[in-house]
Amino acid sequence: MSNIYIETYGCQMNFADSEIVASLLQKEGDQMVGEIEQADYVLINTCAIRDNAEQRIRKRLRELRAVQQRHPQLRIGILGCMAERLQSQLMVEEENVSFVVGPDSYRRLPEIMRKVREMGVKEAATELSTSETYADIEPVRLASNGISAYISIMRGCQNYCAYCVVPYTRGRERSRDPETIVAEARSLFEQGYKEVTLLGQNVNSYRFVVENASGEKETVDFPDLMRRVAEIDPLLRVRFATSHPKDLSDKLLEVMAKYDNICKCIHLPVQSGSDRMLKLMNRHYDSAWYLDRITAIRRYMPDCSITTDVIAGFCTETEEEHQMTLEMFRKVRYDYAYMFKFSMRPNTYAEKHLQDDVPDAEKTRRLEEIIALQGQLALENNRKEIGKTFEVLVEGESHRSKEQLFGRNSQNKVIVFDRKDVVPGQYVKVKVTDCTAATLKGELV
Ligand code: SAH
Ligand code: SF4
Ligand code: F3S
Repeated sequence: MSNIYIETYGCQMNFADSEIVASLLQKEGDQMVGEIEQADYVLINTCAIRDNAEQRIRKRLRELRAVQQRHPQLRIGILGCMAERLQSQLMVEEENVSFVVGPDSYRRLPEIMRKVREMGVKEAATELSTSETYADIEPVRLASNGISAYISIMRGCQNYCAYCVVPYTRGRERSRDPETIVAEARSLFEQGYKEVTLLGQNVNSYRFVVENASGEKETVDFPDLMRRVAEIDPLLRVRFATSHPKDLSDKLLEVMAKYDNICKCIHLPVQSGSDRMLKLMNRHYDSAWYLDRITAIRRYMPDCSITTDVIAGFCTETEEEHQMTLEMFRKVRYDYAYMFKFSMRPNTYAEKHLQDDVPDAEKTRRLEEIIALQGQLALENNRKEIGKTFEVLVEGESHRSKEQLFGRNSQNKVIVFDRKDVVPGQYVKVKVTDCTAATLKGELV
């Protein structure tokens, strides 16, 4: 029986994985603690997507040395994508790390931790799997507000975008049995949850072959799965992330449009507005295809919000190509964007075959231009919401004032309003009266 402190970095899938890890360890009798000072083990679930994500972990490990001096029995384990990328080398570089466990080896954690404790050895488990989905593990909802939860529906990615480490850190793509997904969502709803987010690197390629009642093989694809989760209850909202533009089907848009409780928000990472860049990035679509998908979204769901990811200064990107990205932003008018400077990652196609030749200062300038434009577009989009009334799922107290609550509408926009006698977890109608680029303000109706 040990005390475990888990710290999570990176994407939603890492947060979902930490909940699986907590569940696996609790079954062994360990308990999760909220204070590092009480812990026997610190588990750091890491991200490797950009160099600065890894630098942040290294800095954290230096800080933890001080804690270890006060508590010499404290052991540190590295989980997640940085563990997978660097494997046992990480324990050589970082002396205070006792074990390294990759995303497909979490079932081995109890055994590894026992070995480390009893034999005083260092251990690494970084084998990737083609079948592990942790489908049978019921996650312990760690950072949950009791209202909204993540459900992993698939693992891995094999799209091999030229810049990306994920295929190397998460392995081959595999989908989880739909029965277990629907059961998990239903159980969450019965516990009082009101929203689930289905997670995968590219949910559009979700595919699972099942046997139907008459013994025939049948493929469940992502729209089929969405339909099944949406039909659990109209009061259970369903979201998903991320969808790859190359596979965004009309079938999915049709299902989304049909169910009110499927949230009208699509995260569709564009990465660049230039066709030459998209080709070099190995994205398998061009700007015309992407814009056609945007038109399709708006045709099925005129009120759907659209968000994106973009990379500034990918290998050999010219000023003109950067301008094409800005042009794409003006055309689509995203509601939100995650914007990044290109960071060369070891062992990717880009590192092996391309030149990271856009100077850092130039990447920064391009990124700042995108950020400035996006800020303006988000504000303009939000202004158009003033006067409209939305159904809002209330999540909690506003950070600014105890007198106010915040929640999200179907479009995933945060709305703040005076609380009156409303409590978190409730659905309310809010009329928008004001906004910033990041939030809507409104009043209960
Ligand atoms: N599976 C998702 C994205 C996962 S990574 C998808 O394909 O859309 C999240 C985002 O990080 C990516 O969309 C990309 O914009 C960014 N990213 C990935 N690798 C990067 C790198 N080497 N440098 C900068 N940004 C990167
Ligand atoms: Fe990375 Fe591309 Fe896979 Fe997304 S689709 S995780 S960007 S390789
Ligand atoms: Fe990071 Fe791994 Fe997610 S690299 S973004 S934690 S899949």
